[in-house]
Amino acid sequence: MDERIRIFDTTLRDGEQSPGFTMNTEEKLEVARALAAMRVDVIEAGFPISSRGDLEGVQLIAREVRGATIAGLARANRADIDAVVEGIREAERPRIHTFIATSPIHMEHKLRMTPDEVYEATVDAVRHARRFAADVEFSAEDASRSDPEFLCRVFDGAIAAGAGTINVPDTVGYATPEEYAALIRSLIERIPNSDKVVWSVHCHDDLGLAVANSLAAVQAGARQVECTVNGIGERAGNASLEEIVMALHTRRNYYRHETAIDTTKIYRTSRLISAITGIPVQPNKAVVGDNAFAHEAGIHQHGVLANRETYEIMTPETIGVPGNKLVLGKHSGRHALKNLLETNGVHPSEAELQRIFEEFKALCDKKKQVTTEEILALVEGELRTVPHTYALMSFHISTSSTLPPKASITLMRGRELVTQEATGDGPVDALYNAINRIVGLTPSLADYAIKAVTGGTDAVAEATVKVRDGDGLFIGRGTSTDVIEASTKAYLVAVNRIVHERQHWMTDVYG
Ligand code: KIV
Ligand code: ZN
Repeated sequence: MDERIRIFDTTLRDGEQSPGFTMNTEEKLEVARALAAMRVDVIEAGFPISSRGDLEGVQLIAREVRGATIAGLARANRADIDAVVEGIREAERPRIHTFIATSPIHMEHKLRMTPDEVYEATVDAVRHARRFAADVEFSAEDASRSDPEFLCRVFDGAIAAGAGTINVPDTVGYATPEEYAALIRSLIERIPNSDKVVWSVHCHDDLGLAVANSLAAVQAGARQVECTVNGIGERAGNASLEEIVMALHTRRNYYRHETAIDTTKIYRTSRLISAITGIPVQPNKAVVGDNAFAHEAGIHQHGVLANRETYEIMTPETIGVPGNKLVLGKHSGRHALKNLLETNGVHPSEAELQRIFEEFKALCDKKKQVTTEEILALVEGELRTVPHTYALMSFHISTSSTLPPKASITLMRGRELVTQEATGDGPVDALYNAINRIVGLTPSLADYAIKAVTGGTDAVAEATVKVRDGDGLFIGRGTSTDVIEASTKAYLVAVNRIVHERQHWMTDVYG
């Protein structure tokens, strides 16, 4: 194999710029831990100057996560760079990533700077960053639409000023694979000290070419690929980590480059990102979609039964898809549950295990057969929850064809039981209204979805809700064999998040 390809994950920065969601700091830390466990080389943890939350997220990740380089993004100015320095101070391997746009349209209309000014800003920013970190990356935003002559001049200046990684973004997803590969090749050939730096690529998916462009760039000499889990990101998203890694792995005889990624962690990380962001993975998504290993046509099923390789170029086990076998039931104990969780990469604390165990036992009372997938869905609902300020004790609903649905719900707040009633347009709406009365909030429901985790009429239903409170979007997931209960649990998770966020904000402001 030739030189290893470094995987630079920007799920927490470019991915977090996906329309309509933000993550809280605990969630960012959980994602960063999963990325480090999957062995990505670099985690871009955020854009510290952009908000206090971003700075805190970067600081927490820098303090807690070991193994990967932790990068923070800065525009090419000293204030942005100083904010990154504050963010990554405690990182084991800190990196400052600074950027400025180099295309005529960006320089003229967005930056209102001349090419000479952009060049000066680049050199000054990289020099300033090098005072604080040995590892500095420079990106020329919109590089693929920039004048190659000017790009060479800017990159040359950045290398002379001390940048160790040079990134060539296709910011608007405009490039085609041949064109992009030719650009990378010519930059490497033309820039005198190109062999002193790592060439990096960063592709957006506006034309659906982000992965193809990244792989073409690898063949042209790029040795770092920037990408996000599930391909989430600005507009149509970024190049998808799992597709790049599995293309390099599955076709290693062709590409002759591998990554350090532990591929068996891919599926679980993908599920985690989907659970936290509430952005579903499309069923036919390459590598991690629900149908990626499903064989519907009889002729295909026949072939796969005879020899999997007839229609499967990689195995579900390689990316860590849990087997759907029946493993646990009513008589299984905590130890067996813990074992199953650990085999699937979940390492709960004792208190979390106890909570999951109780939910699991409740599920076994309703359902004889519990699959690994159902247990993992239940875990996602349980572990992804911020403190249970309000816990569901019981609910009752009455519906008829003539009267509006009426709900009564009892929640536990501390040691106190609180009950409220409300009506609504439907049973779920009535329950949500009753919860709002108890909590004293009226968030608006931005999205609601329900799906069966497995087949059968007693399947576990998984509800996902997104609610808006002010500028914040809060996500909740809940599972149950009863769709109304799953929907109620999901809403309660989202509401607990709002309460948690508000408490956090109060502590920040009033100490
Ligand atoms: O798409 C882009 O150009 C970026 C840079 C900041 C690297 O995200
Ligand atoms: Zn980007």
